[in-house]
Amino acid sequence: MLALVNASQLVTLSGPARPRVGHELRELGIISDGGLLVRNGLIEKVGRSDEIMRGLPRDATIIDAERRVVLPGFVDAHAHPVFAGNRVDEFDLRARGATYEEIAHAGGGIQSTVRKTRAASEAELFKQAKRHAEWFLECGTTTVEAKSGYGLSLADEIKILRVIHELNGASPIEFVPTFLGAHAIAPEFRDTPQQYLDCLVNEMLPQVAAEHLAEYCDIFCEAGYFDLDSARRVLGAARQHGLKLRLHADQLTNNGGAMLAAELGAATADHLEQTGSDGIAAMHAAGVQPVLLPASVYSLGKSRYPRAREMIDAGLAVVLATDFNPGSSPTPSLQMVLSLAATQMKMTVAEGLSACTINAAYSLARGETVGSLEPGKLANFALHDCDDYRELGYWFGVSQTHSVYIQGEQVFQA
Ligand code: NIG
Ligand code: FE
Repeated sequence: MLALVNASQLVTLSGPARPRVGHELRELGIISDGGLLVRNGLIEKVGRSDEIMRGLPRDATIIDAERRVVLPGFVDAHAHPVFAGNRVDEFDLRARGATYEEIAHAGGGIQSTVRKTRAASEAELFKQAKRHAEWFLECGTTTVEAKSGYGLSLADEIKILRVIHELNGASPIEFVPTFLGAHAIAPEFRDTPQQYLDCLVNEMLPQVAAEHLAEYCDIFCEAGYFDLDSARRVLGAARQHGLKLRLHADQLTNNGGAMLAAELGAATADHLEQTGSDGIAAMHAAGVQPVLLPASVYSLGKSRYPRAREMIDAGLAVVLATDFNPGSSPTPSLQMVLSLAATQMKMTVAEGLSACTINAAYSLARGETVGSLEPGKLANFALHDCDDYRELGYWFGVSQTHSVYIQGEQVFQA
């Protein structure tokens, strides 16, 4: 048995057993001078420190939070953590004035990471992904969605999904696998994109499903990548194989991606920088959760952020995530995302925290087990070096993570 006591604020995120909307996003269920009791990796009790200490068995291990803020482990609901190499050369080109779209058009972008990822062995990919997993832990993140999408051939996509499964055994983080074979048209099919769709639907999806390698299917629905009809075909097939749906929608242009997510009843529509009021209304009607990725807007040097306030006012169960990837968002830090959400999208840190814990958990069908500190849930929590939760979004460029626990075991200490 483990007892955590003396948290300046135990931010429980307790509340209704569903994603939070409207004013609920600001209600964090904070217990001042809080603590919790853990048995067999699960939270048994949450309360004030004196209530936790009362009647504690002699052999219980006590963690003194020393007046730090304690939060549920962050849940990152959109990430691309398995890839080879990096794209620092493109970052440099963008600093000299090139745009993401120009670089992609010239054969860089996603395709350049595909070339490196195909050339890497499963062991090499695993080694690099393990390092990324450590970065997530250092940031206080304990659940991470993990997309494939840098293979674009049957063998290479399977290789990436296997690495994600190996990571699940080798890292304490839970990785939730998503098949993103429709991230770009594979280079072999540049001039015959319909044939790549055939390959996705007839070869890749059946194999991914047969080997139970993914829970979700995603697609980059964007001009020059996959149009609405292609997305309907791929995601329709994915659903027939029992996969749930997520979409990269309306990132660079508004081509109706959010509307399509609503039409298909997807779990999430992600990015949404260009989505307007019609897309927002459609997502609300269909119960689609928007996943906002401000770090990718920032890192690409763009200025148009998604309309978070309008989405919250419309009653959407907003999620924040990193979009960790080598091209558009090389950060694993949800703390940085909280800062960007506050300064660029006018979301308070309270709203931001709900968005990257409990709401993110529900978007991954993990709302019953993680995302808040409530009895019966996994004892996944992090201590942060501050005494007011709002400092998480206020300080930036420095990690405040002090230590991280997953199922009651310490997995990181600064
Ligand atoms: O979410 N938009 C598509 N996919 C990624 C970028 C991938 C890359 O540039 O490697 C994103 O931003
Ligand atoms: Fe992405």
